[in-house]
Amino acid sequence: MSNRKARDFEYTEEDFEKVRQLIYQRVGINLGPNKMEMVYSRLSRRLRTLGVPDMKAYLQRLERADSSEWQEFVNALTTNLTAFFREAHHFEYLVSHLRKKARGQKVKLWCCAASTGEEPYSIVIALLDAFGTDYPFELVATDVDTNALQAARNGVYDLERLKGMDDAMVAKYFMKGVGKNAGLARVKNVLADRVTFAPLNLLSGGWQVPDALDIIFCRNVFIYFDKETQGTILQRFHRILKSDGLLFAGHSESLLTVGAMFQSIGRTVYKPTAQLVRHSDESSGDESAPLSAAAG
Ligand SMILES: C[S@@+](CC[C@H](N)C(=O)[O-])C[C@H]1O[C@@H](n2cnc3c(N)ncnc32)[C@H](O)[C@@H]1O
Repeated sequence: MSNRKARDFEYTEEDFEKVRQLIYQRVGINLGPNKMEMVYSRLSRRLRTLGVPDMKAYLQRLERADSSEWQEFVNALTTNLTAFFREAHHFEYLVSHLRKKARGQKVKLWCCAASTGEEPYSIVIALLDAFGTDYPFELVATDVDTNALQAARNGVYDLERLKGMDDAMVAKYFMKGVGKNAGLARVKNVLADRVTFAPLNLLSGGWQVPDALDIIFCRNVFIYFDKETQGTILQRFHRILKSDGLLFAGHSESLLTVGAMFQSIGRTVYKPTAQLVRHSDESSGDESAPLSAAAG
C-alpha cells in the first residue's frame, strides 16, 4: 500500500528539494528535511489562488515570475510566531541599560525580525513606561515578510494576545474595539507613531545605516539560519552597532558558537567585542535611507 498522502496537487520530493534550495538562496531559511508536509500546506494555497496544476508548474512559474510571486513565496514559508513581552527579562534589561546612558541623546534601535509587531510595540511600551513620552528614540522595525509587516502596521490584535499585560497598560496603549470589532484592540498612536516599519531581508546585506545603532533586537530568527548565514549577519551587526551597544537574541540562540564577535553579558544579551572595524569608525552611508534595503 502506498503511504503517499492524498493531495490536491502533485508534489514530489524533488519539488520539495527545489523549494528548500530557493528559500535558502532568497532569505537564508534552512528548512529541515522533515518540513515536506509543512511546505505543501503553505504553498498549496498559492497554487489554488494562481490556478496552477501542480507544484512543478508553480516552481517553474516562480522562477520566471516577477518579484511579486517571490514575495508571496517568502511570505508563505516564514514562521511568524511572536508575542507581546516575549522573554520579558530582555525588556527589563533594555530599560536598565538605557537608564545608565546620558539623557538627551537620541537612542537608535532596530528590531530586525519584527513579525506582526508585538515585539517592537513591546519595546516602545517599555521605553515610554520607563522614561516617558518625551524620551528621544528612533525604532526601525523590519521583516522580510510583507504580510506580517502589514499586520504590524495595522496594529490590531485579539484581546487574547494582550493577556500578558495588566489592565492599566492595555488601557494606556490600546483602544478596545466595540460592535463588530469586539474582542480586538488597536494600538494607540502613542505607540504607532514611535515605530517605522520597513521590509528588509537580513540576507540581502544592502542595509544603509546613517548612524551607528545602540540596540539590535534579533530574536528567534537565527534558528532558521545555518551557521554560515548567522556568521555573515553577525559580522554586519557588529559593524553597525556602537561599541557600547547591545544585541538581544532569542532564548535558544547562542551566538557564542558563531565566532568571537559578541560577548555574552546576560541571558541571550550580547555586546560587541572590540576587534573588528565598526560603523562608527567608517565613513557614513546614505543619510536619506536608514535601513532601507528592499526585501527581495
Ligand atoms: C518566529 S518570528 C520571530 C518574531 C520576533 N522576533 C519574536 O522573537 O517574537 C521570525 C521572523 O523572522 C522573519 N524572517 C525570516 N527570515 C528573515 C530574513 N532573511 N530577513 C528578515 N526577516 C526574516 C520571519 O518573517 C518572521 O517574522
